[in-house]
Amino acid sequence: MNLSLPAVYWTHGPGVLVHGPASISNLGPGFDALGLCIREWGDQVEAWQVDAPGVHLVPGESTVAWQAPLDVSRNTAAVAARRVLAHLKAEKGMVMRICKGLPPGSGLGSSAASAVAGAWAANVLCGTPLSKVDLIEAVLAGETVASGSRHGDNVLPALFGGLVLVSGSDPVAFRSVPLPDDPALAVILPEVQVLTRQARAMLPKSVPLTEAVRNATHLAFMIDAFRSGDWETVGRCMMADRIVEPLRARLVPCYDAVKGAALEAGAFGCGLSGSGPAMFAVAPDVPAAENILAAMLEQSRLMDIDAKGIATGINRDGVRSHS
Ligand code: HSE
Repeated sequence: MNLSLPAVYWTHGPGVLVHGPASISNLGPGFDALGLCIREWGDQVEAWQVDAPGVHLVPGESTVAWQAPLDVSRNTAAVAARRVLAHLKAEKGMVMRICKGLPPGSGLGSSAASAVAGAWAANVLCGTPLSKVDLIEAVLAGETVASGSRHGDNVLPALFGGLVLVSGSDPVAFRSVPLPDDPALAVILPEVQVLTRQARAMLPKSVPLTEAVRNATHLAFMIDAFRSGDWETVGRCMMADRIVEPLRARLVPCYDAVKGAALEAGAFGCGLSGSGPAMFAVAPDVPAAENILAAMLEQSRLMDIDAKGIATGINRDGVRSHS
């Protein structure tokens, strides 16, 4: 690892480099309740222990056209890290540099990726006294400062890896869903920004009972299908939501075209990742995922919307540090 720090922090202790992974939340009927950590994409946090207490931010270089705010009370990684240091009553502080690989408003858990990376970096610099379960409140605090809402369906998958079910209760309850196999996924990120705050504000305050039952039923079947590797059923169930995704689809001009192309190319299902604009498709296998991805990207470009994409699978580890 080759970390360098501004000269003002010349007396610093050990450093750490942490990867906060991207995640797909909601998966159709699992609004605010289900999220999946994916292998590619995410944010990086470099951090060093320093004598000055608290969290100090220095500008980072981002791979996306967006820099994380340097105000520690508005920066999700810093908020999460501060919670960890406070919990541990740490006497030393930390300097943190964030390299954003996920733009905010991507639908891929950008704030969650930073929050888990910040919390994990703080934990590692203090000697890793806390388990990932101990970090839940810190990462939720980081997510809340960015999105204005305390939902765990990105932060918990990004923290633990895999597929995670999460409640909206306080304290939060969660379950990691055992996955015997990996689904093949195609994920695209069109160059459209959908801010989670806005995408939440547009949702109805109450829903008809029939639609609530429909979502609950499909979510249950989808979890069961994930556990048995029945990707066809996963794909069908993820497209059943009529409460949230139809409203948000209007924010993504290429939604219908991309979804149509994915299904035409053989996807079992396709929909928004989180609040969008990212979209993902479940494919029968890895070669099919590559073809489906190409079809999705092509449709986005035909609508003059630049997009990047990746054929990917599950990240089972969640946040991790590089030694
Ligand atoms: N469950 C959240 C939503 C995910 O759909 O608003 C976005 O952070």
